Amino acid sequence: MGVRNLIIFCVLVFSIDFVDGEGGGIVKVKHIFGSEADRSLKDLSVHDKNRHGRLLAGVNIPIGGGKYTGTGLYYAKIGIGNPSDDYYVIVDTGSDAFWVNCIECKQCPTKSNFGIKLKLYNPKASLSAKLITCKPSDKLCEYRVVYGDGSSTDGYLVSDLVWFDQVSGNLATTSADARIKFGCGLEQTGNLVSSTALDGLIGFGASSTSMLSQLASSGKVKKKFAHCLDGKYGGGIFIIGDVVEPTQKTTPLIPNTSHYNVIMKSIQVGNTIISNFKAGVGKETIIDSGTTLAYLPGAILDPLRQMIFASQANLSTQLTKDLFECFHFDKSLDDAFPTVTFHFQNSVQLDVYPHDYFFAFNEYGKYCLGWQDSRRFKFEAVHDLIILGDLVLTNKLVVYDLENQVLGLSDHNCSSTIELKDEVSGAVNEVAASHNLSSSPVHHRKDISSSPARYHLEFGRVVKLFLLCFVLFYYVSFDCTFTIFHVV
Ligand SMILES: *[C@@H]1O[C@H](CO)[C@@H](O)[C@H](O)[C@H]1NC(C)=O
Ligand SMILES: *[C@@H]1O[C@H](CO)[C@@H](O)[C@H](O)[C@H]1NC(C)=O
Ligand SMILES: *[C@@H]1O[C@H](CO)[C@@H](O)[C@H](O)[C@H]1NC(C)=O
Ligand SMILES: *[C@@H]1O[C@H](CO)[C@@H](O)[C@H](O)[C@H]1NC(C)=O
Repeated sequence: MGVRNLIIFCVLVFSIDFVDGEGGGIVKVKHIFGSEADRSLKDLSVHDKNRHGRLLAGVNIPIGGGKYTGTGLYYAKIGIGNPSDDYYVIVDTGSDAFWVNCIECKQCPTKSNFGIKLKLYNPKASLSAKLITCKPSDKLCEYRVVYGDGSSTDGYLVSDLVWFDQVSGNLATTSADARIKFGCGLEQTGNLVSSTALDGLIGFGASSTSMLSQLASSGKVKKKFAHCLDGKYGGGIFIIGDVVEPTQKTTPLIPNTSHYNVIMKSIQVGNTIISNFKAGVGKETIIDSGTTLAYLPGAILDPLRQMIFASQANLSTQLTKDLFECFHFDKSLDDAFPTVTFHFQNSVQLDVYPHDYFFAFNEYGKYCLGWQDSRRFKFEAVHDLIILGDLVLTNKLVVYDLENQVLGLSDHNCSSTIELKDEVSGAVNEVAASHNLSSSPVHHRKDISSSPARYHLEFGRVVKLFLLCFVLFYYVSFDCTFTIFHVV
């Protein structure tokens, strides 16, 4: 069965179903403090500023987390509201919605294993918050998102100011804001309320509902973003903007898919090609920062793991937690095991080194293969897919150029810098990595201590996070027009 037929039925949410503010035929926006007349001066000036907003030179989104911090999960710090407060959200390129845990949430966690104090967003405490209602009932617009690992979020929509670090010079940023519609999460399930939970999740998918699309449609940014996940010190670089250095080869994004899909041509282990996808057929591969491990169909994974372990014939591996193939090893992984290279259309290649496809388990000297069979998922839709998550995307610069519908991939030192071009002035500015969000001086406010560095991923934590969105429902007691987006 065609993968796309199966997999993609996300519902378009925000921009289709309602139009913000005055004159927007479909949905009326009500201010939480009452009528238009009650609008504060501040609110008005913000409104004007937004209306005259110009293209931002680039947006630097500080990120933390990652293998080094023991989470296998990358998160960003984002300011919301007026006065603004900081929220720590999972960064996910496999889904579109942006939501945070909301004040009415009864079961939301208050602290996470990452040592981050969690908070609940309160629209009533933000002068700039607006509730979003749907016609004809004028009830709040509700949303629901279900992720590939079965976790979900339900709530209602709000719009508020979201604060960014706008790139303003070499290694310099200034604060900028934009009005963004997002979900106020009332009930979350699965990993989203576990000990690995954070304040919410920001989806960097391409649909019109994502924050990126909202920023782009307000003319603030071009639809180009990039990440470089630092496997050594955690965090890395996550930016919206035009990367000019390093330069990269690019591979086409498959059109009309709801994830970032590219075509894999072959897989090479050392000098041997082990999987050659027939010309023109190509193997669809999803690039997904919200998933920790990599998933391959059994027909590819089996020969791949045989080739990997063939170089260490005497190694005895054991199945740990019924899930991971693990072994004890006290020598250099990179000396002992081969590099695996994924070749994509247009000669773009992704070299994955042993220290990135194995991860350290929580006892010393124990490593496990970070690759799994796609058939592990309940979703039949992914059984034939390759999904590349954080582990293999670590220490790579991944550029998503949606303007030109291409994806760039290259090795990069994610503790170093990249250069962004300001589309308006033509200036080129360096942007540096962030590693420890609690110590970065962005968005004001008291420091929140971060977790002590741990070098190992731990099972039962986010190792299994799989945040591709498969079903993004939007139900609004059927008052709100909603559209199901089928990609065929
Ligand atoms: C993708 O969608 C657009 C707009 O709906 C359509 O014009 C285009 O032909 C589609 N492309 C493919 C390859 O299906
Ligand atoms: C594997 O074990 C055999 C027998 O103990 C030994 O002769 C051989 O050198 C070992 N191979 C490696 C790669 O360690
Ligand atoms: C990566 O960049 C950082 C910062 O510039 C530098 O200290 C480090 O040595 C670099 N690492 C490698 C492997 O080149
Ligand atoms: C992050 O920075 C804070 C404050 O500067 C410090 O206490 C903490 O140990 C740092 N954490 C890591 C993982 O480096």
